[in-house]
Amino acid sequence: MTAFDTLKNQLLNCRRCGLCEIRTHTVFGEGPPDARVMLIGEAPGATEDELGRPFVGRSGKLLDLLLSTVDLSRERNVFIANMVKCRPPQNRDPSAEEMAQCMELLEQQIALINPAIIVCVGRVAAQALMFADFKVTQQHGQFFELQGRLMMGTFHPAALLRNPRQKPDAFGDFLRLRSKIRQVCPEVYN
Ligand code: URA
Repeated sequence: MTAFDTLKNQLLNCRRCGLCEIRTHTVFGEGPPDARVMLIGEAPGATEDELGRPFVGRSGKLLDLLLSTVDLSRERNVFIANMVKCRPPQNRDPSAEEMAQCMELLEQQIALINPAIIVCVGRVAAQALMFADFKVTQQHGQFFELQGRLMMGTFHPAALLRNPRQKPDAFGDFLRLRSKIRQVCPEVYN
């Protein structure tokens, strides 16, 4: 068994926080295990919990569409995961405790995938992984080098569904992502 499979098994059976009591499925994430680009969202919603897959509800469809506009997909070249692997009740923000318990496993997941670029999808991931005061509306689309990786924060697709006027800005972020990929890991597009 690979280290990746071992981590996956560990996560699927995780009982570190109370969310394990109410989950239907743990959502490990999906994509090539050696993807150069990793997207990290917040936490599974109802559809994700039901199916055990990340971003497969309405906002997931929009995320897939944004990715496809720049020739990216979870099937080919992007790994999609979440900060927290089990669904918080009523889709509330994950608590500090839940995030802390999941962070160690997320760090292992990032280390094994070893992406060159991480995109934080939404405020919760951007504040946890980049800057505690990260403001998506002001800092989206900017790349920062943090711990040897390039990181960028963008709008959460659920926020775009609520506020479609931000869609052009989000599209711009994905165009910037494509340029950055061509610069630092052009093999993604080969
Ligand atoms: N929202 C997220 O942040 N992650 C998912 O997997 C689905 C919706």
